Amino acid sequence: MLSEEVQKAILDLQKQYPEKRSALIPALHLAQAEVGYLPRETQNEVAALFGIDSNEVNSVVTFYDMFFEEPVGKHVLHVCKNVSCMLRGGDGLLARLCQKLQVAPGETTADGQFTVIASECLAACDKAPMMLVDEKVVGPIKEEQLDQILADAKKGSGHPSPVEKVGVPHA
Ligand code: FES
Repeated sequence: MLSEEVQKAILDLQKQYPEKRSALIPALHLAQAEVGYLPRETQNEVAALFGIDSNEVNSVVTFYDMFFEEPVGKHVLHVCKNVSCMLRGGDGLLARLCQKLQVAPGETTADGQFTVIASECLAACDKAPMMLVDEKVVGPIKEEQLDQILADAKKGSGHPSPVEKVGVPHA
C-alpha cells in the first residue's frame, strides 16, 4: 500500500500537467521508489489515483525497462544490446557479465546485489559498448574491466531513484 505521503505527492504531480495522465511516468517512479518495484497491486493503486484502467498503467510499466514488476537487486546494470554497442562487442560483454554473476539477463544474483538487464539503446552510443551502472553511464567497456566496475558499483549506495531528483524524499 502506498503511503499517504506518496499518494499526495502523486496527486500534486498531476496538477503540474495540463493533462494529469502526463504525470504517470514520474508518478510510477515515486511509487517504485517507495515499494522498491511495481507489483500489480501498486500499479492498481496508481491507476486508481489517475482514474484510468490498470492495464494502461501496466502497458507503461512493461514498455520501459526502468520500471520493475519484480524486485531487483541493490545495483541495477543495464547493458546495451543495441546496434552501436553490439557492433563493438556488447553481446560478448553481456555474456561475460552474466557468466561472472551467474545470472541470465533479467535475473538478480543470489546475494541480491546485482540485477542485469539487457536494454535497448541507452543514448550513449559514443561510449559503446556501454552500460548503465545504477544509472551512471560507463563505457566504452573492455571485458577485463568488469571486475573493477562491479567492485566500484558495490561501493555505491545502489540503484538511485529519480524521485529524489524531483524533491520527494525516498521512503
Ligand atoms: S546502441 Fe548502445 S548506447 Fe546506443
